[in-house]
Amino acid sequence: MKLEEFAMERMQSTWENVVRYNLSESGVHPVAIGDLIPDREDREALLRIELGYGQSNGTPDLRRAIASMYEGAAEENVLVTTGTSEANFLVSWMIAGPGSEVVMMLPNYMQLWGLVRSFGAEVKPFHLIEERGWAPDLDELDRAVSEKTELIAVCNPNNPTGAILTEEEMDRIVQAARRAGAWLLVDEVYRGAERSGDLTPSFWGRYDKLIVTSGLSKAYGLPGLRIGWIVSTAELVARAWSYHDYTTIGPSMASDLLARVALRPENRQKLFERTRVILNSNYPIIREWVDRHDGLFSMIDSQAGAIVYMRYDLDVNSLELVESLRRDRSVLIVAGEHFLMGNYLRIGYGSDPDYLRAGLDLTSDFISKLQ
Ligand SMILES: Cc1ncc(COP(=O)(O)O)c(C=O)c1O
Repeated sequence: MKLEEFAMERMQSTWENVVRYNLSESGVHPVAIGDLIPDREDREALLRIELGYGQSNGTPDLRRAIASMYEGAAEENVLVTTGTSEANFLVSWMIAGPGSEVVMMLPNYMQLWGLVRSFGAEVKPFHLIEERGWAPDLDELDRAVSEKTELIAVCNPNNPTGAILTEEEMDRIVQAARRAGAWLLVDEVYRGAERSGDLTPSFWGRYDKLIVTSGLSKAYGLPGLRIGWIVSTAELVARAWSYHDYTTIGPSMASDLLARVALRPENRQKLFERTRVILNSNYPIIREWVDRHDGLFSMIDSQAGAIVYMRYDLDVNSLELVESLRRDRSVLIVAGEHFLMGNYLRIGYGSDPDYLRAGLDLTSDFISKLQ
């Protein structure tokens, strides 16, 4: 197998903890453990944990807590994974191989794109259209899906655009999957990170061959727990568990416990509220920054996730722009090239406001020298 590099993640892995201003992150500033577990009882429970191997598919309590968020799901419909990344990895590994055909929404977090191509599958894209406010081209989807299609993959809310599908668009995507008899994989990791506070409807319950992947990294502000999940049919979940034996075996017991605390309904609401407050207090900063660079950027408002995605009008490739910005000013943002789009940038705005402003000021200064 020839591994196709996951270029965006490689760039982040290399630089995100080295630069002065990391504006490449798509989630909000993370929650501290002490803030997640203010109660003495929970703290003591954490300290009593013996660091053995836990229940490798997630404790029944954690699986039940996850299942309770998807109507009609039970613990056998849930596999706990090491982040949404592992959930996506397992699904790709199970379904995509030489001769298989995958249809995928673009732009997108490119993990699945690189993985399924590395596994030998053919990937056909369908696009979100900027002129339509990043709505999907569903005719293109219909043309791409064939009886050979084994998997359709979408991300909702979307990374990098922050766009959310309408109910009608969701229905059309389900219909396309049903026509082909394909699995439909929906990465819903940004669900709960909407600026409006309206929880994006899940695809769960709309189709029998559905796989939802998600986790605590974005809407909950807990990427360091590395807790994600697959929700699907009991059969698919059982099969995914045996693949999981080859990858990470199981989640850390400390993370499993902290995830159970985070998913208590009252805590879940508080974490979502915290995320929403950060998104809404920082969004005007980034919007105003974009508008200030009159005509240089054009950006459709992002609806979810701590990310904005903008087109820029400069005669420089986005990889080059991002690399020189990092080298010269120690500010990290993401090149549109990582989403197979030339003159675009993705900027994360979920950090502390002063930090965000300082990173943006350095970026302005850098850009004014380019012009
Ligand atoms: C759409 C999407 N899926 C998965 C991930 C990885 O998430 P996790 O930290 O839960 O592994 C990301 C991270 O940016 C993402 O944007």
